[in-house]
Amino acid sequence: MTNRYLQGSLAPVSEEHTATDLPVAGEIPANLDGRYLRIGPNPVLDPGDSYHWFLGDGMVHGVRIAEGQAKWYRNRYVRSAHVTDALGEPRTPGSGKPGDFAANTNVLEHAGRTLALVESGSPPYELTRELDTVGPCDFGGTLTGPLQRGGYTAHPHEDPATGELHAVTYNWLRGNRVNYSVLGTDGLIRRSVDVQVGGSPMMHDFALTEHFVVLYDLPVVFDTSIVTRTMPRLMRLPARLMMSRLIGKNPLPDKMIDGIARRSANKGNQAPSVLPYSWDPSYPARIGLLPRDGGSEDVRWFEIEPCFVFHTLNAYEEGPPEAPHSVTIDVIRHDRMFATDLHGPNEGPSTLTRFTINLVAGTVSQEQFDQQSQEFPRIDERLTGSRHRYGYAVGFERATGGRRGDQARPPRRDLPGPPAGHGAGSRRILLRAPVGRLGRGRGSSDGLRLRPGQRPERPGAARCADPRRRRPGASSGQGARRVPRQLDTNRRRPMMQFLEPPHRGGHPG
Ligand SMILES: [Fe+2]
Repeated sequence: MTNRYLQGSLAPVSEEHTATDLPVAGEIPANLDGRYLRIGPNPVLDPGDSYHWFLGDGMVHGVRIAEGQAKWYRNRYVRSAHVTDALGEPRTPGSGKPGDFAANTNVLEHAGRTLALVESGSPPYELTRELDTVGPCDFGGTLTGPLQRGGYTAHPHEDPATGELHAVTYNWLRGNRVNYSVLGTDGLIRRSVDVQVGGSPMMHDFALTEHFVVLYDLPVVFDTSIVTRTMPRLMRLPARLMMSRLIGKNPLPDKMIDGIARRSANKGNQAPSVLPYSWDPSYPARIGLLPRDGGSEDVRWFEIEPCFVFHTLNAYEEGPPEAPHSVTIDVIRHDRMFATDLHGPNEGPSTLTRFTINLVAGTVSQEQFDQQSQEFPRIDERLTGSRHRYGYAVGFERATGGRRGDQARPPRRDLPGPPAGHGAGSRRILLRAPVGRLGRGRGSSDGLRLRPGQRPERPGAARCADPRRRRPGASSGQGARRVPRQLDTNRRRPMMQFLEPPHRGGHPG
């Protein structure tokens, strides 16, 4: 097995464990009450060397913290039809429908539901508080219709002012449209808007400001040649033409799109193996500002140099609230993606970059903070959409050739101070999903604060929940202390990124 996404800290965990009353080194604050959850791809069967990191079956891990104790550790597969078939279990109710996939990218809680999320056409999976699978979730029937087809996004953003979850969803079956939705605090989608983009881009994340939804219409796009590669030779051209027409103009009726979705659905025991997106140098790179209460025709587009963005740190507006004069967008920028290596991300360093859109002049500027390669950026999410002072990310050493420890020096930026009274500023790092498919956890009460470089404590004695879940050749796990890898600090170092100098005497640690 030589695929790098099946080795080291990314090697699949072959067993499910439940461990209770975990030993604690040090002290857990008594008022810390919640779950530390993370999720990532964890193929239930050997996917072979052609495996794509993004396409492994999801496995969620969690530690329950309360009353100063680590109550339990659990890890569980997200039980899609493919997973239950592989495990020899009855199928989860509702699984096996078009787009069915063991969500593997993000896990969060909203409106009382624990949700495992993935993008590009597959539905969220609801989990119990103990991480067992309930089934696919369509938000009470509001995630419906052929063009929604159960799909959602891996990276919704919660508006801290309302508690609502904003999302931008993409799926090539939507043609040249992405969907902006708002999931209310009641767990139902209350607003859904289709927005026309330049083609069928991968839109892994977006940004939310007080008045705008910030869209990344960038040159990683649905690649018909990848999808048709395994078709009979005579079928390839007609299939490519049909899909190109669909992407370009949305001419197909909903029933036909529905049929394509059904035929392309995961058939239970067939795991997807191809990520049909690649770099298109001819595709214009744009950032779009969609007014929160606007429609597709209201988007202001700003062309930028070609690049790709997986993740947003944050974005905010400057100027009077009734007439902001600029929008600042901090992201991790890749020069390109899936251009030379379709099994990436593997196209060179990814750096913290600020785009500033001047709403008056109609221009956009770009500033790279430094050369530090990093990903998975986070802020204190109580500041989503408003000005932030600190950001946190995971630094990569090999991409920059830096010596170990180089990233421990937090770069500083001399920028104006934050609004008085905001809650950010801890020098401790907040980790929610240290390992996973570009994944990020979330939840106002489900995080643990760890010091930089600190590993989560090892759970105590673990047992295999069900022998059938073991793969051939795997150890029994009975009484073993073996636990899934949490964070390999030799490969990835949590780091702090100071965007502004700390207040004098203002913030702890
Ligand atoms: Fe992600």
